[in-house]
Amino acid sequence: APLAITDYLRQHIRTVPDWPAPGVQFRDITPLLQDPRVFRVLIDAFVHRYMEPARRPEVVAGLDARGFIIGSVIAYELGVGFVPIRKKGKLPYTTVQETFELEYGSATVELHTDAVTPGQRVLLIDDLIATGGTMMAGKKLLEKLGATVTEGAAIVVLPELGGAQRLREAGLELFTLVDFA
Ligand code: PRP
Ligand code: ADE
Repeated sequence: APLAITDYLRQHIRTVPDWPAPGVQFRDITPLLQDPRVFRVLIDAFVHRYMEPARRPEVVAGLDARGFIIGSVIAYELGVGFVPIRKKGKLPYTTVQETFELEYGSATVELHTDAVTPGQRVLLIDDLIATGGTMMAGKKLLEKLGATVTEGAAIVVLPELGGAQRLREAGLELFTLVDFA
């Protein structure tokens, strides 16, 4: 039988134990990107969903840094623009900022104040949802500028960390391809 997309993708994610800190099982997506056939299946899974007229965003926002890799390609394929949500200190123009807690540490992210306009429909993309802190911060930044985050999308979700549930409780629709319990 043909492999379901989710199993095919799962088989190309590498788990690195105790990185970057003891007790963390790091889910490494670089093998997904490295194999051109897998990379295409991955990108097409998102593009297929968001090409649907009712779901098609006006802008894709990607989260630093692995959200840039897939987010920009998805935006290109959808024929919409891409805006980066970056770690503090990287964006040159005026920004809005959010500070939040991570699975391992804390961080501040920024978005250019002219990256989106009020009422714009934005798809928010990252590679992985753990505690959900990163994606929640991204949602808040976009909403500070008056944009509507229509959906959050990621390759991987770690359900045990509760992030996906918290994001859904905060009113964010989520689309993810692979979970690791
Ligand atoms: C990872 C991952 C997500 C975030 C998920 O990024 O790429 O952005 O953590 O965790 P959360 O749901 O608990 O917020 P990381 O901070 O390691 O940065 P990087 O993408 O620059 O490697
Ligand atoms: N970001 C936060 N937790 C992670 C994990 N376990 N694997 C990969 N990226 C992460």
